[in-house]
Amino acid sequence: MTANKRIVLSSDHAAIELRLAIAAHVETLGWQAVDIGPTTPESTHYPKHGEAAAQRVASGDCQLGIILCGTGQGIMMAANKVKGVRCGVCSDTFSARMIREHNDANMLSIGARVTGEGLIFDIIDAFLGASFEGGRHATRVDMIKAIEA
Ligand code: RB5
Repeated sequence: MTANKRIVLSSDHAAIELRLAIAAHVETLGWQAVDIGPTTPESTHYPKHGEAAAQRVASGDCQLGIILCGTGQGIMMAANKVKGVRCGVCSDTFSARMIREHNDANMLSIGARVTGEGLIFDIIDAFLGASFEGGRHATRVDMIKAIEA
């Protein structure tokens, strides 16, 4: 059976192996992993990978995205430049849950050189297991959308 929930994955060179492990993990949670690379360990530039992943989400090809670089910060900044994307860096499970429930984040960024692998998997579980609550939070997310409009 092919999962109809699609999640795009990308990173820079700091997280190639980890990203592949994450792809396998999200598949066990019922997501189809859309891994857009890179696949080789040469040094590369995180903005292009953040943008490419964000475009998959903004276009509707993927519902969610997970991106990684050394800190998670640079690739997050690039992704958030794409209209319609709301991406947060998380190094704890509470934030990972809250960016879905309150901020309607559609992308999660992780620092591969910051956060341990075991915690990263818990962070991903928290992010994917949460849903946007709407209500007063929708008002605030609409205000974010108004800024980019
Ligand atoms: C690459 O050395 C590093 O700068 C990058 O992975 C990331 O941490 C940038 O935000």
